[in-house]
Amino acid sequence: MIIEVEGLRRTFRVSEKAGRFRRSHREVVAVQDVSFTVPEGETLGYVGPNGAGKSTTIKMLTGILVPTAGRVRVCGLDPSRQRKKLARRLGVVFGQRTQLWWDLPLLDSFELLRDIYRVGQTQYRERLDECTELLGLAEFLSTPVRQLSLGQRMRGEITAALLHDPRLLVLDEPTIGLDLESKARLRSFLAELNRTKGTTLLLTTHDLDDIEQLCRRLMVIDHGRVLADGELAGLRGSVAAERTLTVDLQEPADLSGIPGVTAIKADGPRVHLEFLPSEVSAAQLITAVAARAEIRDLAVGEASIEEVIRRLYDLRPAPQA
Ligand SMILES: Nc1ncnc2c1ncn2[C@@H]1O[C@H](COP(=O)(O)OP(=O)(O)OP(=O)(O)O)[C@@H](O)[C@H]1O
Ligand SMILES: [Mg+2]
Repeated sequence: MIIEVEGLRRTFRVSEKAGRFRRSHREVVAVQDVSFTVPEGETLGYVGPNGAGKSTTIKMLTGILVPTAGRVRVCGLDPSRQRKKLARRLGVVFGQRTQLWWDLPLLDSFELLRDIYRVGQTQYRERLDECTELLGLAEFLSTPVRQLSLGQRMRGEITAALLHDPRLLVLDEPTIGLDLESKARLRSFLAELNRTKGTTLLLTTHDLDDIEQLCRRLMVIDHGRVLADGELAGLRGSVAAERTLTVDLQEPADLSGIPGVTAIKADGPRVHLEFLPSEVSAAQLITAVAARAEIRDLAVGEASIEEVIRRLYDLRPAPQA
């Protein structure tokens, strides 16, 4: 296992103004009872609403924060105690922070990182050439980082995180603020990295397309606790999310009252039906529709990932005070 986490907990003491001169202290539980393991080669998406505890978890995995309780091993090391050693095996990208030198050309940052991580010349050149080509860095390698656009800088960040050829790449909101094309490019680069080199990926995101296109496995966290952990297909099944049947009818017809159908939306001759697979199968539903109207075309769809996650939230226990 490249990551092993057991009973992880992290609290913060925050002080608040209480009246004119007094300050009161309050304990915020950012992460509690979090346990999971990640095998090599996995692609794991870590999602949850703002303040759920994602970044706090990532900071404990990478040794930036010390856990209040629990056990963490990453690449066989204790992140906070063996932070330097871990840094040589791990790549980290924070979408909202830079690990590059603001005033230096991108290439100079890479060279500094090569020295810090003691990357051999041959490996350095290979990784740099590869990333330059696949991420299209060539035009701005000599541009100071502060002059780069967000999308350009992000490509630089990913390259910087990969120069020492880590087995594990941890990314905290890598696609935040990027345009559609930059997102797509980044996703396909990361998918390729996982496929060809077997690099393990752990990423947090608010863009569920990142998950759909990149992650085999999904972990959902809220109020510091893991609500769900599994392969996307399995999670879909577990929440019994509605599927959809879309039919194009020859003539408009009344399709109300079919058992198992939870919603109907007509859009001219096209009708969308949401149904619960636990109550009616797609085949039964098509038969029922065909008995009432002539079908010209049809398509059966999965519940969207948004819908699956929304339902996982609905299942959560009420947060404890
Ligand atoms: N340094 C800190 N001091 C005090 N509280 C903190 C600190 N860091 C995080 N928290 C609190 O811990 C909780 C979890 O924060 P965290 O940054 O892990 O959330 P997140 O899931 O990454 O959210 P987002 O999607 O907004 O990035 C929040 O309530 C936050 O206010
Ligand atoms: Mg965060």
